[in-house]
Amino acid sequence: MPSDIQKFESDALGAIAGAKDKSELEGVENKLLGRKQGEFTSLMKGISELTAEEKKAAGARLNELKNKLTEAIGQKRVGFESAAWDQIAEAEKVDLTAPSLPLKKFGHFHPNTLVQRDLENLFTSMGFAVLDGPEIESDYYNFTALNIPETHPARDLQDTFYVKNPNPNDQTPSRLVMRTHTSPMQIRAMQKYGAPLRVVIPGKCYRNEATDVRHEHTFYQFEGLVVDERINFSPLKGVLEIVARHLYGEKTEVRLRPKYYPFVEPGVNGEVTCFNCGGKGCRLCKNSGWLEIFGAGMVHPSVLLEGGIDSKKYTGFAFGFGLTRLVMLKYGIDDVRLLESGNMKFLEQF
Ligand code: PHE
Repeated sequence: MPSDIQKFESDALGAIAGAKDKSELEGVENKLLGRKQGEFTSLMKGISELTAEEKKAAGARLNELKNKLTEAIGQKRVGFESAAWDQIAEAEKVDLTAPSLPLKKFGHFHPNTLVQRDLENLFTSMGFAVLDGPEIESDYYNFTALNIPETHPARDLQDTFYVKNPNPNDQTPSRLVMRTHTSPMQIRAMQKYGAPLRVVIPGKCYRNEATDVRHEHTFYQFEGLVVDERINFSPLKGVLEIVARHLYGEKTEVRLRPKYYPFVEPGVNGEVTCFNCGGKGCRLCKNSGWLEIFGAGMVHPSVLLEGGIDSKKYTGFAFGFGLTRLVMLKYGIDDVRLLESGNMKFLEQF
């Protein structure tokens, strides 16, 4: 019996070690330790023929052997499993240094952004800071502080969307509006930074419009404000000529004609020679030879006061470009509604 066990043991260990994969190992396990027909079971049966003394020794030996074989099989199985994991890990390895796949589609800037950035670069080169402001404004900043009191008819020209104040604890009597122009930032800038001041403010504006090819409820403006000592119309015109020539070439002229805006005095309507016909008159300029692209003027003393600036010491000028209009002129866009449409066929042209 003991020599049988000896042989069985070395054969069994050899068979376990020789299994080439998991299923072969399973076969070996069945053959050795299978409950009914396993070789180990027959060895156990052999015990019954022994004397009580021998039984005890053989029983202990067989138990030990069973543990040994179970252990060897278990280890072998773990070996197969970790090899399988290694294989998966190898297959899924990511090479972080590999060059990326070629991109099929590139995003790009909206035409508004292109023109806005072009102007921002021009103005920062002249020492202006670029500011950003809230699109939901208080009635006070959008109108009242800009010399447009509650009952003023100028409010009718800029009808907009009124917004419910979401904060029930806010005691401010002032209503909230979707800003109708970027001019409220004139007040905010003066209150925050004081004089002297040189800033531009590009941004989205809103008005309650019956939309058509020339009117849209959402559009962009590009505001400018300069406050300093001895500021008058001369630097205003100089700056606007620089912008006009930057946009439409060296020969472009700027024409300023009186126009009423409550927050400037005097106020002007700014036109440039039509780049399409050079001033001769065409469809684009409606045969006038001029294109209206901005409003401007000397900052009204009461607006300076509202901004906390001493109007005896300082004066200022302000201008507001129709950024959306500039974009339409630059790219020959004949329907303003395309700009906010999200239409890919339109956008992919830029
Ligand atoms: N805020 C004016 C508008 O929206 C434009 C403007 C700006 C006019 C600054 C004068 C000075 O029509």
